[in-house]
Amino acid sequence: MPSWRGGQSLSESDAGYMRAVVPLVAISKHCPCKAGRVHICDTLLVSVLTIQAHRLEWVIQMTFALCIVGCGAFAQTFAQGIESLRHDIDLFFASRDVQRARAYAALFQGSGAFGSYEAAAADPRVEAMYLCTPHHLHQAHAALAARAGKHILVEKPIARTLEEGRGIIAEAQRAGVTLMVAENYHFMAAVRACKGLIAQGRIGRLRLVQMQEEAPFRPDQWRRRRDLSGGGVFIDGGIHKAHLLRYLAGEPVRIYAAALPQVLDEHEGEDGIVVMVQCANGAVGLINHSWTNAPRPAPPWVSIAGTRGRLSFEVGASWLSIEQGRAERTMPLADDPSGLAPMVQAFQASIRGGYEPEVSGAEGLSDLAVVLTAYASMDQGVALPLQR
Ligand SMILES: NC(=O)c1ccc[n+]([C@@H]2O[C@H](COP(=O)([O-])OP(=O)(O)OC[C@H]3O[C@@H](n4cnc5c(N)ncnc54)[C@H](OP(=O)(O)O)[C@@H]3O)[C@@H](O)[C@H]2O)c1
Repeated sequence: MPSWRGGQSLSESDAGYMRAVVPLVAISKHCPCKAGRVHICDTLLVSVLTIQAHRLEWVIQMTFALCIVGCGAFAQTFAQGIESLRHDIDLFFASRDVQRARAYAALFQGSGAFGSYEAAAADPRVEAMYLCTPHHLHQAHAALAARAGKHILVEKPIARTLEEGRGIIAEAQRAGVTLMVAENYHFMAAVRACKGLIAQGRIGRLRLVQMQEEAPFRPDQWRRRRDLSGGGVFIDGGIHKAHLLRYLAGEPVRIYAAALPQVLDEHEGEDGIVVMVQCANGAVGLINHSWTNAPRPAPPWVSIAGTRGRLSFEVGASWLSIEQGRAERTMPLADDPSGLAPMVQAFQASIRGGYEPEVSGAEGLSDLAVVLTAYASMDQGVALPLQR
């Protein structure tokens, strides 16, 4: 059940009800019941909902004004990925170069363009900022957004270090804005289906979760520098797998990692890694992620084996294979290659509902802890307990 940021719980979890109630918090000090503090009670609901029905209707239906901060490569994928939501979203673009912001706005039917991130933060039309910038700048850009009262959707990893990540969470809390990590894999249809089937016990007790990706990617600019990106492939694309493992199999307790022999000489961080994770429930995770020179790498895949069956899918595909005993079937899924649209819907709902998003700052921090423990293991050559 969602809970209010003030710690107050709601007995009613209906999303429409919650969207209607949130604006009431601001005026609850003037409630006729004379509670005299921020609260929600029947008197407040009945009186204000009646008197302000038209105004609330407007609040519920208003569009969501989101500004993309940083007009780089993934900003494009993001804008394309949320195409289906565009009737509900006013999309703005902020770049250090106003021409680039305008070009993105023209390409993706934006509602506006800014020539600096500061200008976007200062604009009252902007309700939330999606930080799609290099890892070393996430904390500074989150602070900029929070101090301007904007809700924050920050790209993964939340930051390069746990300390930076905690700083972002504290900044958002101080400002009273919603903070969510843009972990789109969490919202992929195949992942949601696996989560449900595992919870129903359809494959028995979890034994082994394997995730494999060999991407033909040659990082440049800030990605090549370990001090700017925070590492290599694992803190970048690999952190999605750390999140999936935690989401599907539970919290890791022990981690062993080894880097593959380097292919990308110009890259300071590791370009390939194998990570073995022991989870608290006994399940084991095996992650193999590398950036390669291979011209035709295999599609990334996930396989989840339990005591009574196996689930497997290719990342971004719209099917899920379910094996139970000797039976095997393929479950078709909604065409949802990226999970970006449901991710943004979840962000918007958590803002409107005033509750903590599923992929909160704390979740992002836990994902980062897996990555950083793997790095420590890789450097020391030993298995290590999860370091927080
Ligand atoms: N969810 C996913 O699957 C996924 C995939 C790829 C990347 N990502 C994440 O998205 C974020 C951005 O990655 P990207 O691949 O889009 O990177 P990118 O192509 O390098 O774009 C980053 C943008 O950040 C802005 N920026 C601000 N200060 C900068 C600086 N000092 N140096 C370089 N750029 C600066 C630039 O935009 P302006 O010049 O317009 O200001 C730049 O275009 C990262 O956190 C990354 O991990 C997520």
